Amino acid sequence: MTHYKKLEKKFDRIGKLRHLLSIVGWDEQVNMPQDSGESRAEAMAEGYLMIQELQLDAELQDLIQEAGEEARLNKLTLEQGANLKLIQKKMKDAKAVPSQLNHALTLAVMKCQHAWRDLRRDNDWKSFLPLFEPVVSLTKEAASARAEAFGLTPYNALLDQYQSGLDSDFIDRVFNGIKTWHPDLLDKARARQATILQPSGSFSIASQKNLGLEVMNALGFDFKRGRLDVSHHPFCGGVSSDVRMTTRYSEDDFTQSLMGIIHETGHGLYELGLPKEWEFQPAGHAAGMMLHESQSLLYEMQVGRSLPFLKFLSPMVKKHFGSDPALETDNLQKIYQRVEPGLIRVDADEVSYPAHVILRYEIEKQLIEGSIATADIPLLWDEKMKTYLGLDTTGNYKDGCMQDIHWPGGSFGYFPCYTLGAMLAAQWFRALKQDHDLLDTAIESGDFTWISSWLNKHIWSKGSVEHPLDLIKNATGEALTDRHYKLHLERRYLS
Ligand code: CO
Repeated sequence: MTHYKKLEKKFDRIGKLRHLLSIVGWDEQVNMPQDSGESRAEAMAEGYLMIQELQLDAELQDLIQEAGEEARLNKLTLEQGANLKLIQKKMKDAKAVPSQLNHALTLAVMKCQHAWRDLRRDNDWKSFLPLFEPVVSLTKEAASARAEAFGLTPYNALLDQYQSGLDSDFIDRVFNGIKTWHPDLLDKARARQATILQPSGSFSIASQKNLGLEVMNALGFDFKRGRLDVSHHPFCGGVSSDVRMTTRYSEDDFTQSLMGIIHETGHGLYELGLPKEWEFQPAGHAAGMMLHESQSLLYEMQVGRSLPFLKFLSPMVKKHFGSDPALETDNLQKIYQRVEPGLIRVDADEVSYPAHVILRYEIEKQLIEGSIATADIPLLWDEKMKTYLGLDTTGNYKDGCMQDIHWPGGSFGYFPCYTLGAMLAAQWFRALKQDHDLLDTAIESGDFTWISSWLNKHIWSKGSVEHPLDLIKNATGEALTDRHYKLHLERRYLS
């Protein structure tokens, strides 16, 4: 056996432990009784500690050296070489942040995240702050440690954990660019809003779930390797062989939950399409969270809210909820293409959405760089909300800075992935349409195989073998750009 193969075998153990932790993490969000959080937090923190210990194993370090030698002698395949590089990066990362610090951060996060659910409901920023402050300070400490090891700024070190290839200079450039055209687009789109019929009645959760499952099925989701459940904050978790999607339902409105399901299905399909033979290795993982969001947003925004898709959807919706003029295609289009700035990011329309992300990005970057304190967040939030969307969040923490799970969950550097993912989704979709002139007709008839086979060929099946920015260039012929995103928004909302 080559040294590389031995290394892979050792790393398989880490992959398998991660598999278990992912499923337990899903269980924590979906099934766990209210008072079981503390023990679960300790058990999960222990699991992460075990992963770090396995990564720091001396034998593994030697194998990396020797496998590196084999790579230099061209003894590895392209995929193996890429996998080795990813393993080396993970090792460097494991060494960068002391295990005690990681452990403390995991505990602080689990405590804060668990309390957040009730404290958010109660609009209780005051009780939340002392639980949140350690999350921020420990994240900053870990970010500095990573920054030092990788020669990055602390915020870039956080970004890199979610999406390699990104840095804040690039994001500043892109977001500042968006800020030059966004207010005008938003104003014009708002001025064009037509009257919408609100679907009336009560929409049973059972029917909503059946409709959701039917749509997932049409999009190609494999229920033999995945499932759909309910959680407080919708997400797509689990692993590529066992995808755990969640949503949340409201009986007065099925439209949000349904689009949420389509979004998470995009994440789920990406996971299900990852290369099976690399399942437990870093090369078999998704190529980053910007890429991940680009898949969910392709399904949600490019496909799900398009007229051809809504033509396909309308009969299915009527089958479950009876006929109602509000469920006809043209009204569904008005609902799903409505532009109305609101306080909540996850409920935001496609045009307002980037403002929510830019606001969070600007705040979290300053927070990590240390130019603001944790206690300053609400005031800054209120100011930016007013500037970008003209909305007032004074005293409303629940629908303001406490609305997302990301920060209490210790995820700083994630938010940009949404808007960059939306840009990228537009870029993928344009490339897809260039390859298939009859794409709209296929979507209208409920045939999504062109889409999934194109994505599978260019993105899913590649795992993390190619550098994400190369992957984008190879598949679309150009570097990541906001051009197609802007064109898409103008075409959909202004023409
Ligand atoms: Co998503």
